[in-house]
Amino acid sequence: MAEPGILDGQVAFVTGAGGGIGRAIALSLAEAGADIALFDIFPERVEEASARVRERGRRALALPGDAMETDALRAAIAATDRAFGRIDILVNNVGGVSGRPFLEQSERSWRRHIDINLVSMLAATHAAALVMIRGGRGGAILNVASIEASRAAPNFAVYGACKAGMVSFTKSMALELSGHGIRVNCLAPDHTVTPGNQGNRAGPVDPAQWRQRDPAEIDAMNRLVPLGREGVDSECGDAAVFLCSSQAGYITGITLPVDGGTAAAGGWVRGRNGRWTLNEGLSFGG
Ligand SMILES: NC(=O)c1ccc[n+]([C@@H]2O[C@H](COP(=O)([O-])OP(=O)(O)OC[C@H]3O[C@@H](n4cnc5c(N)ncnc54)[C@H](O)[C@@H]3O)[C@@H](O)[C@H]2O)c1
Repeated sequence: MAEPGILDGQVAFVTGAGGGIGRAIALSLAEAGADIALFDIFPERVEEASARVRERGRRALALPGDAMETDALRAAIAATDRAFGRIDILVNNVGGVSGRPFLEQSERSWRRHIDINLVSMLAATHAAALVMIRGGRGGAILNVASIEASRAAPNFAVYGACKAGMVSFTKSMALELSGHGIRVNCLAPDHTVTPGNQGNRAGPVDPAQWRQRDPAEIDAMNRLVPLGREGVDSECGDAAVFLCSSQAGYITGITLPVDGGTAAAGGWVRGRNGRWTLNEGLSFGG
């Protein structure tokens, strides 16, 4: 739960804000006091999330648009600047993935991965950082990468390469923008329950429609994650409020895992017998 008031008076622009992690970040930033511009490709999603922001007593600007069209993204940032007169926080959350061995993946698919995960971040950062610099108050940029940025991602190689690129860009921008008081950080979530990873990438966000995991899948997931469960989107929201607020005023250029410990585990999982193992059937230490 965000500390109320810590972002009072600030304005945040969030991409992919209509569902999942982006929506949770938008709502957490609103609970902490920020007014929110919400950018998402599905108009009904962006309207729904905007209504939730207003319920929290903050102003919301609903901006339907496709993050793969950089002109639309730039226009939305300009509209936010016109409506609110400032931008203090940019969250580059929008992203996308489809799983397939690299040798079976089309060039069209590579390019779509790069456009949605990387180019959208570049375009939004360019446009929003100029608004922040003009405002002279500094700012915070948060990029939503993934645990796949730092480990192998078989069947998701292009996605992993894009997310690793986001981490690299975060560090470079942390230096380039430091003189303007703009901090740039990154989140690296692992499995988080969202419409996208529950088979509901489009249409209204209705958790009742989500694919439900069967008990064997839930058990496997819980043994994979050291904290014993899948992530909740509001946990990324809490981390975002921290990194975008003055509480993280001396933190820039980092990537914060929000992953229940899977990055630290580095492949260790809980076996069905409850003991840690690198693969079911192997035993270590007697
Ligand atoms: N959920 C996870 O387990 C997980 C894990 C690691 C990283 N991530 C990253 O977190 C981010 C959000 O993932 P999520 O699971 O919340 O996704 P999601 O699919 O649940 O939600 C994504 C939102 O972005 C919107 N969107 C999709 N394409 C768009 C486009 N072209 N333009 C504008 N909006 C668009 C969708 O309408 C949706 O509201 C992504 O960058 C993803 O790579 C997610």
